[in-house]
Amino acid sequence: MHATRKVNSDIIYIGAEDRRLQLFENMFPIERGVSYNSYLIRDEKTALLDTVDASVSRQFFENLEYALDGKKLDYMIINHMEPDHCSVIDEIFFRYPEVVLVGNMKTFQMIAQFYSIAIPEERKYVVKEGDTLSLGKHELMFVMAPMVHWPEVMMTYDTSDKILFSADAFGTFGTNNGNIFNDEIDCHGKDFVDDARRYYTNIVGKYGVQVQAALKKAAGIEINMLCPLHGPIWRTELPFIIGLYDKWSRYEAEEQAVAVLYSSVYGNTESAVTALAMKLADRGVKGIQIYDVSKTDVSVMIAEIFRVSHLVIAATTYNNNIFPKMNNLLEDMKALSVQNKKVAVIENGTWAPQSGKLIRQALEEMKGMELIGETVTLKSTAKKTADLDALADAIAASLVE
Ligand code: FEO
Repeated sequence: MHATRKVNSDIIYIGAEDRRLQLFENMFPIERGVSYNSYLIRDEKTALLDTVDASVSRQFFENLEYALDGKKLDYMIINHMEPDHCSVIDEIFFRYPEVVLVGNMKTFQMIAQFYSIAIPEERKYVVKEGDTLSLGKHELMFVMAPMVHWPEVMMTYDTSDKILFSADAFGTFGTNNGNIFNDEIDCHGKDFVDDARRYYTNIVGKYGVQVQAALKKAAGIEINMLCPLHGPIWRTELPFIIGLYDKWSRYEAEEQAVAVLYSSVYGNTESAVTALAMKLADRGVKGIQIYDVSKTDVSVMIAEIFRVSHLVIAATTYNNNIFPKMNNLLEDMKALSVQNKKVAVIENGTWAPQSGKLIRQALEEMKGMELIGETVTLKSTAKKTADLDALADAIAASLVE
């Protein structure tokens, strides 16, 4: 059964939802699933904008056939070559023998890498920045957005309806559940914003500079609607989602708040960070969040690290190194260009505490990481409170600066 909705009189949403997938990119847990958005513009010519993951291709082809309603498919525009959006390119190519594939030079290089289809020149339309394609009433313009989130990424701007098909940008985890528009869901709610932040920070977080470049381009055009490849279509409150992307890509905290990230083998480091949290609360600090690195998915912690201004990193020493799960988090922070945080460090080690020194070294490899207070060293357990009191004083003072 087809499952589609009209975006406007000429554009139909023909994406599909994946509620079965456990791990997006075989890495990120997606409790609320994910949508793979795809759009068909019906004009004198028809144009398909991106496709879907192979897992939902049956639904997608039913949607496409319904939306075409007997018309032939003239163009397939490929804004992004990651397989969650293009794994049926070859099937489209063979099913619709007249379709012309539209992409940039890098798009076609990647098609050759992923697929074994010989595309004749007359079925290729290679575009670059600012090139256009007329469908009749709809004039499309192509805007390159390299590294948001792969090098070939481009966006397609419908100059007639002022709609930006924005590829991964402004996307989120979570299925659309029929409500494909942002004004049909609680887009300010915690569930939605947490998913959007976790999606952005883990998938595109590394590419803040490139996202800023794309936002600058977007600021130069009038946009009535944002149609991303995941999550809702934004037809109201565009400044809200653009503002979040702007903040995240500038590595600016959303909130003056503290996230405590700890590893603890037998509960003693955990006891120390809980005591520290109590002391912070006594000093008026609200909204403290504590995460056990052994139990919390790294993508959740990365999103929190982007959200808050202050971190407490508390880790045991393990094999003369940082506890492996904390080490993994620090490596992920480096890989995703985490920057501009105020960080307090607690180390633990029964005979040779090393983790504090190694955490500080890891932080030095990130930009704009400012240490707060003295590293607190625990030897097995926290025997005295003075060091934790001093650290709580330093964190609380830094929060009100
Ligand atoms: Fe949703 Fe970069 O793919």
